[in-house]
Amino acid sequence: MKTIQVKDKEFKIYISEESIKKRITETAAAMRLDLADKNPLFIVVLNGAFIFAADLLREIDIPCEIIFIRLSSYEGITSTGKMKNIMGLDKNIEGRTVVIVEDIIDTGLTMKYLCDTLAKSNPAEIRVASLFVKPGKLQTDVKTDYRCFDIDNDFIVGYGLDYDGEGRNLKEIYKVVD
Ligand code: IMP
Ligand code: MG
Repeated sequence: MKTIQVKDKEFKIYISEESIKKRITETAAAMRLDLADKNPLFIVVLNGAFIFAADLLREIDIPCEIIFIRLSSYEGITSTGKMKNIMGLDKNIEGRTVVIVEDIIDTGLTMKYLCDTLAKSNPAEIRVASLFVKPGKLQTDVKTDYRCFDIDNDFIVGYGLDYDGEGRNLKEIYKVVD
């Protein structure tokens, strides 16, 4: 089996480029239908979601706005649950249909924090789109309206997701070899 090295860890191929593209196309079609008349504000969570957002949002050809925020709480391969400020949220979201675009929901603490914080500004509604969800690790009741893949608990890299800053530019998704 072909493996790759990212920093001190070995990874093996998990999801092919074709499978990712296919699921994104399907997910985009559903989102397009739901959101066509809502002029949504897509809030892309950097850095991890940058490739997902670029591929997803180009397939949702409806009137919309796209902004990018950052809130990083993740170091190494375990989630700390510690939150930082939301940077880059320079839009009034009151009355808007907000769609958060995220790479992966692991414990769900990040998404819960983000949804709760955005809700204070009275948007019309908040929806969540995530490329991956790890149902086995969820610690919150956060809902994911659109998701491409449910995956097991293993740490993954590629297609925007990093291991300690590296691996984001991989075209496929790789999972860590224990
Ligand atoms: P949560 O707060 O535990 O849901 O963590 C969410 C964030 O942790 C994601 O936005 C990612 O940045 C990061 N993360 C969680 N799992 C992974 C993984 O398997 N690979 C890379 N990053 C991950
Ligand atoms: Mg992320």
